[in-house]
Amino acid sequence: MKTAIVVSGGDAPGINAAIDCYARLAARKGDQVVGALGGFVGLLNGRLAAIDLRSLQTLVGRGGSILPSSRSPVLQESDARVRLQAVVARHRIDNLLLFGGDGTIRFAGPLLEAWGIPHLVLPTTIDNDVPGTDYTLGHDSACNFAIQAVEGIRATATALPGRIFMLETLGAPTGHLALAIAYASGAHLALLPEYPLELDWLASRLKRIVAQEGYALVLLSEAYPQIDRLVAEIPERAGIRIRYSALGHAQRGADASQRDRVVARDMSRVAYCAFKAGAQGGLVVSRAGAVLLHPGRLPGGDKPPPDRDLYEFVNQL
Ligand code: F6P
Repeated sequence: MKTAIVVSGGDAPGINAAIDCYARLAARKGDQVVGALGGFVGLLNGRLAAIDLRSLQTLVGRGGSILPSSRSPVLQESDARVRLQAVVARHRIDNLLLFGGDGTIRFAGPLLEAWGIPHLVLPTTIDNDVPGTDYTLGHDSACNFAIQAVEGIRATATALPGRIFMLETLGAPTGHLALAIAYASGAHLALLPEYPLELDWLASRLKRIVAQEGYALVLLSEAYPQIDRLVAEIPERAGIRIRYSALGHAQRGADASQRDRVVARDMSRVAYCAFKAGAQGGLVVSRAGAVLLHPGRLPGGDKPPPDRDLYEFVNQL
């Protein structure tokens, strides 16, 4: 069996551990693995490289991906099917192991299915916003990175009180990541794009928190509406300075946590066994604590909103 690994869209901590596990398992059983250099763009151009297990050794826990990704929607080009089938035939590829988030799952999966190319997707994004799986690879590491930052902010916030601290997290259009961090770190408020709050209410709540606790710590998702206005107007309305920090891509490139390393290896093992058993398409999902194969497509539909009860608990609503 020969598998080509493709990383598509945003990378996430845990990918390297998953590649390492899959490639080692394949090598042990006498199977071959190659990696696409540049996501589907690289694959379509036949840019494939062997996985060098020795050089991967020191990178298994690092964020990012040893196989460069791409976000280009190259599979939607008119000649994509012919080019992909030619690459698959020329390199004698039996199946594709894909790492990707919602976009890859929604768009690449159905196309590969229609073109008869066996594939499995490992849902991979720090955002944890893919319908049909409880967990996406990389989320825990991104949370842990943010929690470290929260602790740093808290130290200085308590040492020099009287301010509002806002910490912006990645998360694309969804607030799952911000809510998970806010809950785990005990932040005073979580601002999520799905549940915008009224500015005056927010200003007076923050004023009260600063009066009671000495400082206020707010976790804010990058897609929260009108962040600039918020940062400009709250100090005026509350009469308190805001100190703003954004985690940015440092968060996505965080080292992989123990949980992500384990999930990565579990997902790779499930995928490898599924391919050996003849899987033609599907995803490796996490449900109720178990990592398992979901053959075929996931049910369509919108991304699930963040847990409303948890959101209300965090924000004491
Ligand atoms: O979807 C993963 C993610 O890291 C989001 O949290 C973020 O909004 C986005 O990717 C950033 O993408 P890019 O690397 O293209 O700027």
